[in-house]
Amino acid sequence: MKNAKDMKPVEWVAGKVRLLDQTALPHRKRILEYADYRELAMAIREMKVRGAPAIGVAAAYGIALGASAIKAAERDVFLRGLEEVINTFTATRPTAVNLFKAAARMREAGRKGASPADIKERLVQEALAIHREEEEANKLIAGYGATLVPQGATVLTHCNAGSLATAGYGTALGVIRAAHEQGKVVGVFADETRPLLQGARLTACELQQWAIPVTLITDSMAGYFMKAGKISCVIVGADRIVANGDVANKIGTYSVAVLATENGVPFYVAAPTSTIDPSLATGDEIPIEERAEEEVTTIGKKRFAPRGIRAANPAFDVTPHYYISAIITEKGILREPYADRIREVVSSG
Ligand code: MRU
Repeated sequence: MKNAKDMKPVEWVAGKVRLLDQTALPHRKRILEYADYRELAMAIREMKVRGAPAIGVAAAYGIALGASAIKAAERDVFLRGLEEVINTFTATRPTAVNLFKAAARMREAGRKGASPADIKERLVQEALAIHREEEEANKLIAGYGATLVPQGATVLTHCNAGSLATAGYGTALGVIRAAHEQGKVVGVFADETRPLLQGARLTACELQQWAIPVTLITDSMAGYFMKAGKISCVIVGADRIVANGDVANKIGTYSVAVLATENGVPFYVAAPTSTIDPSLATGDEIPIEERAEEEVTTIGKKRFAPRGIRAANPAFDVTPHYYISAIITEKGILREPYADRIREVVSSG
C-alpha cells in the first residue's frame, strides 16, 4: 500500500503542532503551526483538523504541547495544570470518541511520570504512539476491507474518511485505495456532504490525487444511483461505534444506509477500534454535536438563505446496527451479532 502522496493533516515538529488547514482545502494548502494549546483546541473546534482519528491525534499532541508550557515544579500541581489542558481539548467536539479516548490515554501516561520533566517526555511519547497506532490500524483496515469489495466495483462514500481524517492511510478511503490498487475499484461516487462539503472539498481532492476515478454527486442523488444499479457497495467511516453496533457518523449517513438497504447494496463501516465506545449501550446515548446555523445558511462565506431564517445543524446522525452489513476494524471484519463481536474485540485489548 502506497502513501507517499498523502497530505499530512497533523504533525508534531520540534515541540510544536502543525496542521494542514482543512477549511482552506482544496484551493489552498495552508500549513498552520501551534505553540499555544488553546489556539490548537480552537482549531479543532473550527475543524481546521477534523475526522475522528485525526481529532484524537491532534488532541494528544495538543495535550503534550500544553503540558510543555506548565511551569509548576511540584508533581501534584503540575498534574492539576495538565487536567486543565485536557479539559480544554475534551470541550472542543463531543461526538467523535477518539478525542476522549486519546485524552484518557494522555492522562494515564501523565500520571505515570515521576516528575514534571518525566511527565512532559511521557506525554510526547504517548501522543506519538497514538499517532503510530492509528497509522498501523489504517493499513490493516484497508487490507481487510478490500476483501469485501467485488471486482469492477463502483463504491459510494459519504463525508471524508481519508488520510486527512485519520492521520494515516485512511479508513473508508483506505479500503477504497487498497481495492483500487488491487484493480477492483473502477470508480467512486462521493457525496458532497452538506453543510461543510467534506466530500466535495476533501474526498474528491484525495481521490483525484491518488488517481482514483471519482464522480461528485449531491447528497440527494445517492438513492437515484443506487436504484439505477450503479453502486456496488457503500463504505463510510465512523465517529463513534457503541456496544450494540450502532454507528454515529457525519449527518446524512443514516439516509445513505437506509437507501442502501432498500436497494440491496451492502453498507460497510470502516473504523479503528479507537472509535469503539463500549460504555454506551445504544446509539441513542451518543452526544450529537450541534453546530452554528451559519454553516447551513451559507456555502463557503456566501449566504443564500433569507436573513432571519432559522436553521438546524446536527453534525452527525446515528445508523442503527441492522442497516450495517459489516464493520471493518484493524482486528478483523465484524458482523451481526455486533454486541458479541464488539465485546470480543474490546476485551482482546
Ligand atoms: O465533522 P467531521 O468532518 O469531523 O466528521 C467526520 C466524519 O463524520 C467522518 O466521516 C468520520 O469521522 C470518519 S473519519 C475517518
